[in-house]
Amino acid sequence: MKIAVIGTGYVGLVTGTCFSETGNDVTCVDIDLAKVEKLSSGQITIYEPGLEKIFLRNQKEGRLHFTTSLQEAVAAAQIIFLALPTPPGEDGSADLSYILKVAAELGKLIQPSDYKVIIDKSTVPVGTAAKVRAMILSTATQSIDQSFDVVSNPEFLREGVAVEDFMRPDRVVIGTESEKAIKIMNDLYAPFVRQGNPIIFMDEKSAELTKYAANSFLAVKISFMNEIAQLCERLGADVDMVRRGIGSDERIGKRFLFPGIGYGGSCFPKDVQALAKSAQEVNYNFSILDAVMEVNQRQKLHLVPKIASYFNNNLAGKHFALWGLAFKPNTDDIREAPAFEIIRALTAQGATVSAFDPEAMSNSKHVLGDSIQYASSQYEALENADALIIATEWSEFRTPDFEKMSNIIKNKVIFDGRNLFDLEQMNNLGYYYESIGRKTIGSL
Ligand SMILES: NC(=O)c1ccc[n+]([C@@H]2O[C@H](COP(=O)([O-])OP(=O)(O)OC[C@H]3O[C@@H](n4cnc5c(N)ncnc54)[C@H](O)[C@@H]3O)[C@@H](O)[C@H]2O)c1
Repeated sequence: MKIAVIGTGYVGLVTGTCFSETGNDVTCVDIDLAKVEKLSSGQITIYEPGLEKIFLRNQKEGRLHFTTSLQEAVAAAQIIFLALPTPPGEDGSADLSYILKVAAELGKLIQPSDYKVIIDKSTVPVGTAAKVRAMILSTATQSIDQSFDVVSNPEFLREGVAVEDFMRPDRVVIGTESEKAIKIMNDLYAPFVRQGNPIIFMDEKSAELTKYAANSFLAVKISFMNEIAQLCERLGADVDMVRRGIGSDERIGKRFLFPGIGYGGSCFPKDVQALAKSAQEVNYNFSILDAVMEVNQRQKLHLVPKIASYFNNNLAGKHFALWGLAFKPNTDDIREAPAFEIIRALTAQGATVSAFDPEAMSNSKHVLGDSIQYASSQYEALENADALIIATEWSEFRTPDFEKMSNIIKNKVIFDGRNLFDLEQMNNLGYYYESIGRKTIGSL
């Protein structure tokens, strides 16, 4: 099948590459010329485990192309994915301008004789497929009413395991009532669900809402555990034990119960906000979501007063090592990453920071400039540090060389926002160690 993917960011590049892997001919479009040139010359633009290998293979086989020309890609394709940004607008609702701008262009490019399926893969509020359809029709110069369908096909991939998620999805959700589109979507996804995971067809509004419901539910789950962790700290309970105690109940499940310093990334924060806004627009107060946003904002800064209190509320001149800038491990994505809030809070109080992240250093430099130092290894970050702060649970941080660490760091003090280390081990190693929802090791 001939596919165009409009928008070649995290979702677009993974989508395009994975569809080429099953033999389709895919052209990815982006307005960012530098990005298109880089991809065309065989250089990957994001860090995503497993992606580079299949990207290079399919590019070499001539099944994966990159262009800035929407016209060229659309002319050749029957299937057109929109993987465009939907950032929060000023009022928190999803900004649809990127999508509607491309839809307006599509109206001029779709020919009456040439049926196409336009697929919203971006996360968009209920009613967007209808808006895209109306926008396409409004700019068409010919009668194309029967020449296209707009389908909602939200994406559930997780950054860090995006290729795995895309190639073997738990489910594929498709919102359309067009028989023609259902047949095409079924054929397109058949190779990805050979093990029996479902393709769930539904109306487009339900598909659009499903994506927001999924992300918001997960944000509720993680925020609930963060609140339990807060209680554990105050009551002297251990959140690890509580987590294990409730996770073994199948109705609750083991996953997504790990407390930390809040969720970040390009999806949960904006999607929770957008769903709350959608609810408001239909006069419904989705109060759980308001609580989730409040809890998460508080949680992102949870370590800061603990750090300040350890240093007698005077951080001027203190120097911190910070491990982890990405919003989660196995990605270079730093959007809404809790590490940045911590860095800003510490530097505002006169502290300095030396940070290390295995993949997110370059993106971080664009945002933070020279406001912090960038270490070339997790150990170099520890030089002259009054304490270590852990903000992302990269696996290489889990079992560091503690002897080496202890020889470098100035003070044996750790504030761990991801509960990486065993309390007994920290005690034996002589560290002052504060984590999330567990007892403090060592004394002030
Ligand atoms: N990142 C994720 O993990 C994830 C997961 C599921 C769903 N989503 C959703 O998918 C959508 C895309 O997210 P993303 O993280 O891939 O965004 P992104 O910012 O990484 O990528 C978007 C790309 O679109 C390009 N673009 C903007 N305007 C364009 C235009 N007119 N023509 C062509 N290209 C254009 C940008 O240059 C950029 O490369 C969002 O709605 C997001 O909520 C993201």
